[in-house]
Amino acid sequence: MPLLDESLGHDLAKHPSQTLFGDLQDGEKILDGHSRMAADEVDDPVMGTSQPVFGENGVGPGGEVAVGEIQHLDPFAQIGVAQEQGIRSACYVSHIDIYDEPVYRDKGLQRQAAEIPPSQRGAMAELIPFDDRDGTIWFDGRLIDWRDARVHVLTHGLHYASSVFEGERCYGGRIFHAREHGERLLRSANIMGFDLPYSIETLEAARYEVLRANGIVDGYVRPVAWRGSEMMGVSAQQNTIHVAIAAWEWPSYFSEEARMRGIRLAISDWRRPAPDTAPVHAKAAGLYMICTLAKHKAEREGFDDALMYDYRGFLAEATGANLFLVIDDKIHTPTPDCFLDGITRRSVIALAQRQGIEVVERHLTDDDLGQATEVFITGTAAEVTPVGQIGDRHFQPGRICRTLMQDFDAEVRRG
Ligand SMILES: Cc1ncc(COP(=O)(O)O)c(C=O)c1O
Repeated sequence: MPLLDESLGHDLAKHPSQTLFGDLQDGEKILDGHSRMAADEVDDPVMGTSQPVFGENGVGPGGEVAVGEIQHLDPFAQIGVAQEQGIRSACYVSHIDIYDEPVYRDKGLQRQAAEIPPSQRGAMAELIPFDDRDGTIWFDGRLIDWRDARVHVLTHGLHYASSVFEGERCYGGRIFHAREHGERLLRSANIMGFDLPYSIETLEAARYEVLRANGIVDGYVRPVAWRGSEMMGVSAQQNTIHVAIAAWEWPSYFSEEARMRGIRLAISDWRRPAPDTAPVHAKAAGLYMICTLAKHKAEREGFDDALMYDYRGFLAEATGANLFLVIDDKIHTPTPDCFLDGITRRSVIALAQRQGIEVVERHLTDDDLGQATEVFITGTAAEVTPVGQIGDRHFQPGRICRTLMQDFDAEVRRG
């Protein structure tokens, strides 16, 4: 099967139903694919989808489909289409419309779909908010309904950012470096001055419980811990520490070729703070304040993300990923003395060394950026992502980026 190219991937992410199924407004004009008569004049009409497209995991229905029948979507199409339509779980009634599957079935609409007024036909173009989804979340020691996992407005973590979290990926049912993520969560909490009320083992078992309960095999896991509500001043020595774990589907979707074109980074005005200004080695919520500011500005200017310098003017990292430059066939990466020493970063350094590529950790400057031939970032979300542009400098991802992407993909599947 051909892989998704970047522009198709982009269209799919932005307008999944239009890209997959064409113009749904023309649903009533369809002809039976064999007789070429109007579909409603033929018993069991069939047709090909307007734009069947396939990626690594398959992204939509293809081939001959029965008109007016429910088509089940593969996971990627399911997420995209359901989000775009503002419904929980999409089904595609071939060339008639896209519906929330339970509603469609409950109302016995199978053969009446064409009569449903356009106002009810999706196109809400809204994301499903994260607090209004189906599923189960682990909250203070037990699994509860997704929508019940709430905190009070008077919560210390919300007002003063006394909160730490993790971002982890699960590949084929296994959380990549689960133990390191668990240890970092505990360390982050300790740096912030509190202990988690659960052991690493309990939290690891809870993460798998959440994955199982939600039927997730390839996904993202988000543990979070925060100070509760007993005290609402700056001081909150007695507050209860709460812990929650959520997980959601997150299949990879760009092909290697599309990723090899590289993402575009703006240069941020925000700098990573000094270790005596903020708890820089904790994955603490407050540190993401400047990341969101930097990323929003970059996106407004048409970039994908932002590169941040540190308080001394050295290159630091992107808003949620570590930075690597290739200079003279060696890999150079900033010393993580005022930002996260990412778990992916350490894995990728080991993979590079296994390939016999020298890795140099040092303070990097703008001049180094000028000499770099390849640039990439690493992180749980980003995995290994080549960079094609930083500010007005351009880079051509090459052999080292490709090798490490391939090695990383193999590594995560090994667990
Ligand atoms: C600011 C920041 N830097 C770096 C990373 C990369 O860390 P990891 O590879 O452990 O995900 C992340 C992601 O967690 C991050 O948020």
